[in-house]
Amino acid sequence: MIEFDHVKKSFDGNYNVLDDITFNVMPGECLVLLGSSGSGKTTTLKMINRLLEPSAGIIRINGQDVATLEPVQLRRSIGYVFQGIGLFPHFTVSENIQIVLQLQKFSKQKQIQQSHYFLEQVNLDPSRFAARYPAELSGGQQQRVGVARALATHSDILLMDEPFGALDAINRVALQNEILTLKKKIAKTIVFVTHDIYEALRLGDRIAVINQGKLEQIGTRKEIMQKPATDFVHELFSQAVHQLKEFMDVLYV
Ligand SMILES: Nc1ncnc2c1ncn2[C@@H]1O[C@H](COP(=O)(O)OP(=O)(O)O)[C@@H](O)[C@H]1O
Ligand SMILES: [Mg+2]
Repeated sequence: MIEFDHVKKSFDGNYNVLDDITFNVMPGECLVLLGSSGSGKTTTLKMINRLLEPSAGIIRINGQDVATLEPVQLRRSIGYVFQGIGLFPHFTVSENIQIVLQLQKFSKQKQIQQSHYFLEQVNLDPSRFAARYPAELSGGQQQRVGVARALATHSDILLMDEPFGALDAINRVALQNEILTLKKKIAKTIVFVTHDIYEALRLGDRIAVINQGKLEQIGTRKEIMQKPATDFVHELFSQAVHQLKEFMDVLYV
């Protein structure tokens, strides 16, 4: 379990980028952090593996205060899919995954074997893709490699920061489906950041709505849509439903 206990973050002293955030991520759940650009989603995610330190409050993983854990060790032990793509351009696809396996002291042979295994997990055929360089892949394929690399940490926790943000709608839905399939196969705790309300509704076992550094509401899609806790949440979801209705009207008149 990941716990945020009255966490605050400010970068320049007085302005709170995150203002007293308290929530839990349950083992095996996919929690989506939903909020518009600048609301504090990446900041929240980066404090879990100590890429950033909170200004106040405590973050615990399985009961342990992360502030007491060695940061490099912690970072290596948690899968992280970066906002943007973040593959090393001068490494092949397989080598991009092997980096993570090398840190776990796997033999070279095992690294290669496992890199192929994780490529298969994200539906990339190793015989076609392992030896390619990132520039020789489409955006969607690069993102799959990013996910494979995060899986290769063998971590129970995956942090994903707008992993599909740069993709077109068709590739985005394909990758969302794969995350849903993957979720059934692997019991991992996922914290998934997005500004896309439909993505949140598809992927989240629960959704945490963040607005200007405040946690507006956390709950299942049903709870949030049926009982919005604040005007902001109400507006956000009723707009989405309205847009969907308009779209259906266009399709079915
Ligand atoms: N290193 C930093 N120094 C100063 N301000 C920052 C820094 N990182 C983020 N911020 C500010 O914190 C706010 C939240 O940023 P971020 O967590 O990246 O938002 P999101 O991921 O939701 O788009 C923004 O106003 C951003 O400008
Ligand atoms: Mg961000």
